[in-house]
Order: sequence, then C-alpha cells, then structure tokens
Amino acid sequence: MKKFATAVVALAIMATSALAEVEIIAEKVNENLDVISHKSRIWTNTKFTPVTLYPQTTIRFNDAKANELNQNNTPIIAAIAAIYNKDKIAFMIKWPDVHQDYQKSDSTDAYADAFAVQFARNFSIPKELPYIGMGSVDRPVIIHLQKDSVRIYEPNGNGDIEHQINPNQTNLFNKDLEAFEKQVINIGVADYERSFISEGFRSMTQIKDGTSHSHSTIGYSGIGWLGTVSRSLKDSYLDLDAVAIPVSFAVWNGGKLGRNGLKYLTPWLAIRLKKGESELVKSLTEVPTGDPVAGIKSMTTYGCKGCHQVTANDRENFMAPALKSIGGYSTADYLRESLVNPSAVVVPGYNRNAHSKYKWYTLRENNKRVSTMPDYSWLDPQELENMVAYLKTLKGGNE
Ligand code: HEC
Repeated sequence: MKKFATAVVALAIMATSALAEVEIIAEKVNENLDVISHKSRIWTNTKFTPVTLYPQTTIRFNDAKANELNQNNTPIIAAIAAIYNKDKIAFMIKWPDVHQDYQKSDSTDAYADAFAVQFARNFSIPKELPYIGMGSVDRPVIIHLQKDSVRIYEPNGNGDIEHQINPNQTNLFNKDLEAFEKQVINIGVADYERSFISEGFRSMTQIKDGTSHSHSTIGYSGIGWLGTVSRSLKDSYLDLDAVAIPVSFAVWNGGKLGRNGLKYLTPWLAIRLKKGESELVKSLTEVPTGDPVAGIKSMTTYGCKGCHQVTANDRENFMAPALKSIGGYSTADYLRESLVNPSAVVVPGYNRNAHSKYKWYTLRENNKRVSTMPDYSWLDPQELENMVAYLKTLKGGNE
C-alpha cells in the first residue's frame, strides 16, 4: 500500500499542472482477467496514465446541502491503466480521496464513495457518441458501477450488527466472532456491484439477463481508492473489437453527498487496443483551432450567458446546464453539435424543481425531446469554431 500512497500524493501535486491525457494504450496480456482485482500482481508492471476527472456541473440538485458542498469543486487527477487478453478487457483506476464513505443498508441520507466505467454501445460515428454523463436518448451506454459498501448481515433485524462485528471486540469473543464473521461471509450481502444500460440518468436499467459478465472490486488505501473492473470484449451489449474504443470513468464522493449526476467524470477517453489510424482517436484528442478570445465575444453577442452560467465568476443561472467544466468532459465534436443541432443530444436529467425558470426541452410527437436552446447553425463557421475553442477551455478551475 505504501507504494500506492506515494503515487497518489504525486498525482495530487500534478493536479495543478494538468498533464492529463485522453488517450490510453491498453497492454495485451496472456493472464486470465476473469477475477482480477486491485490486489492482483499484474498491475505492478502496468503503465498508469494520469487522467483528469472534472466536476459535473450540469444539474442543480434539490438538496441544498449537496449543492453547497459541491459548489467549488475543482478537477481531480486519477491514474488509469488498461489491459486486455483474447476475450476480456480490464481497467484499474486510482483516485485520491481522504475520507472513506460507505453506504449502510439502513440509511437514506448517507452516500458511498463509488466509481463507474462507461462504454458507448455504438461508436462507429465518433462525432455522435452518447452524452458523456450516462448516455442520452438513442445513444445508449453500458455502465459498470461499484460502490463502497459494508457487508451486512441482519440475523435479528434490530440493526445491532455493527456492534457484533466491531473488530475491537476480538479480545472479548475471539472464537465466537471468528465463527460469526465466517457466517457473514457466507450469508451476508456485501458487494454493491451493478451493470446498467442507460440512455441518460433516470433511465438506467439494470442488466440481469446473464449475457453480460463483468467483475469489479474496490479498495481503500487510507488516502485514496483503487478500483478495478473487467468485462468481456464481446457480448450481446458491446463489441469492443476495434483499433480504439471510447471509455469514460466517473467517481463519486459520498462525503460530499455525491450521487447520480453529482460526480467527477473524465471525457470520453480513447483506449487504444491496436496500432493504426482511428477516426475515434482523432475526434477524442482534437484540439480546436478557433480563437478562444474571439469566442468569448461571440458568446456575449449571442446571449449564451442569458441562460448558462459560463464561468465560476458568473451569476449562477438556473435556466440551463452550467458550462463551468464543459471543456473538460466534452469533446470538440460534442460542443460543435450542441451549437448547430441542440436537439441531437438533449442533456438528460433536467430537474424541474431546481431549474424552475426555464424548460430544457419540449416534447413533440413520438415523445421526441426538442431542446429549447436556439439553433446556431446559421452562424459563420469561423465564429462557431471560435466558440468551440473557448468552450473547450472551460475546465472547472483548471483553465
Ligand atoms: C434560451 C436559453 C439558451 C441560450 C440563449 C443558449 N443555450 Fe445552450 N442550452 C440551453 C439548454 C436549455 C440546454 C440543455 C438542453 C440541451 O441539451 O439542448 C443547453 C445546452 C447547451 C450545451 C450542452 C451542455 C452540456 O452540459 O452538455 C452547450 C455546450 C451549450 N448549451 C452552449 C451554448 C452556447 C455556446 C450558447 C450561445 C451561443 C448557448 N448555449 C445559448 C439553453 C440555452
């Protein structure tokens, strides 16, 4: 664990220099990856790449305490490694978090630290990837979620389980406790590990049909987390046989009441499996060539701030998603599409209570959501590129 501790501290220092990458080379291995965990030896020889996770600022919550705790969130730096063999792919993510928060079965106001790995179901058109925060209508994602949770065993239903398994009592009931813990391991439900198919938060459906196999683990080091997930390269939901695949990671801080859209997330990362040309890698690593300063001017001209909070210095605006971190977790292609075809992706999870001043979309025939954001496709292409370049600089305090 010591080695990991040093690594996390080094990463924390790097956070200010924002060296993070969006392309990760996956290493081909021969080992079996079915039951890989954060304790597996294989990771000691695997290269980790620093990756930034940006606070998602899209949706205002009803929970005032959660909004307050997360108001000034800044990006965090994680380290990610990817390996694959002939039928499985596995990832490990390490991220800093100084306090372990777990979810007990009987509490509704405590949230767990957690992480998720997200795959685009379809990525043949890199310009039309699913919305980064859990997919969007007609652009589904597969999500593997792992929360920190305690093993719960409730023999008599009076909630006194914690006293019984308190390790400090070992001296008192040594043997009994040992036997009891064995029983807990056999009967108790510990692991909160789930897989979902999702077209946007609030549309998550758990995958239970047995055709998708994944395995995730999570472990706390004292100053940060280590999480792993492995899954099939091909099943009835995903076919990952490609030069590169888009994958994104999210982490939740239970101590800040993080859940759902209140989280930190990477942009779509290009996980490279083979050498060669890839339109996907090009799209995900594109640095826009427009003039960001001119972009600021255009945004004033076209009234973006009338609806959006653009930087942390702007007044908070409850009409549309805040754009404070948009450049961190969005690709240039996504930003372009947002301007010229706002209804292609209507940001999911719109919270009517917290954003009561303005509807994000209206429902048309066939229940199609039509964005209430004006369409800017009529603008001069250079002007659009300038705005894309400026939006790409908005990185939640990491500009
Ligand atoms: C009349 C209000 C309004 C104006 C003006 C407006 N927008 Fe929007 N915008 C919205 C709404 C509502 C959404 C969320 C629904 C959607 O996804 O289309 C949105 C979504 C977006 C998104 C996607 C956000 C995300 O979290 O993924 C971007 C980027 C964006 N707008 C940029 C702009 C820019 C740049 C301008 C100015 C050129 C602008 N908007 C003007 C209302 C507005």
